[in-house]
Amino acid sequence: MDIKNLVRKNILNLKPYTSARDLYEGSGILLDANENSWGTTFTKIEDLLDEKFNLELNRYPDPHQKEIRELVGNLIAIPKDNLFFGVGSDEIIDLMIRIFCNPGKDKVIIPEPTYGMYKVACDVNDIETVEVLLNDNFQADLSVIRNNYSSNVKMIFLCSPNNPTGNLLNKEDVILLCNEFNSIIVVDEAYIDFAGDGSIINEVKNYPNLVVLRTFSKAWGLAGIRLGYCAANAEIINLLFKIKAPYNINSLTRFALEASIKNLELKEKYIRGIVKERKRLKNQLETLPDVITIYNSDANFLLVKFKNARRVQAKLAEAGIIVRDRSSQPKLENCLRISIGSEEENDILWNELKKIA
Ligand SMILES: Cc1ncc(COP(=O)(O)O)c(C=O)c1O
Repeated sequence: MDIKNLVRKNILNLKPYTSARDLYEGSGILLDANENSWGTTFTKIEDLLDEKFNLELNRYPDPHQKEIRELVGNLIAIPKDNLFFGVGSDEIIDLMIRIFCNPGKDKVIIPEPTYGMYKVACDVNDIETVEVLLNDNFQADLSVIRNNYSSNVKMIFLCSPNNPTGNLLNKEDVILLCNEFNSIIVVDEAYIDFAGDGSIINEVKNYPNLVVLRTFSKAWGLAGIRLGYCAANAEIINLLFKIKAPYNINSLTRFALEASIKNLELKEKYIRGIVKERKRLKNQLETLPDVITIYNSDANFLLVKFKNARRVQAKLAEAGIIVRDRSSQPKLENCLRISIGSEEENDILWNELKKIA
């Protein structure tokens, strides 16, 4: 029996999501996945044992996500009825596609270069993607989107600040798209905490087709608990609840969030530190002869164009420093994406870079 004959064709043909850790062992200084090198806001494991948390692991978790919706809703001043939580924002990307897009019929527009999971999630769901280019400032090119739009485009994925270019998208452009198109406009704000006040989240009350994604994996330092959320019109939130796995947010994740959310000050401290280090690294990189461009960043990483990115990445890897080569993406020839590490990690990175670039 050949299992391949049973597999859906789009899965056989799928190019899965890859990370730099597929290439390297995953040890050393990890500046490839935009995690929080400064630490986590989950500081006390004893909190989990606190009686008030009532950690009944023999019971299923709350399918209605009641407490985390209230907690986070209060924190960000968005009504809880406009919030939905997923196993990372990656789960919500997948659920959104499954709600709105018919395989073999509907399309999704993805302005590139951007986060690779939008395309992978479409491919998994057998949804055709229309990849268009961001303009030279890495902003949405409205005329290109208009030219590629058709009535079966159900969704447009935007990322602000954009991964891997680091820039915020113009809010006015996003609003124009929401107004103009009869499609869902997803704005992924995974890195918004590093961007001052660039968020568009408060507009979800004005635009029924706007969905804003957020994650606890970055500024909060909670990538390991897998928790993301979205804010949207209540009708979309209800559809997400309709199709999700009944108990998608597990009890340990919920408790880790409850314990971490009290440490808002610590999160702010991490953000201040990362933004300061981002500036320091940028200033240092500017002095290197092999650096061509350092793009402005509102995120916890820098995109840097080198004379020879592959060589720099390989040399850094030899020194145990892992960064992400983004050269294969459109408009990003010879570009490395370097996550902002701790002060100590950045010192080590700088010492190596001085030798090789
Ligand atoms: C733009 C963007 N969105 C979403 C994610 C994934 O977030 P999560 O850990 O919540 O699944 C990432 C992770 O790197 C990202 O860069």
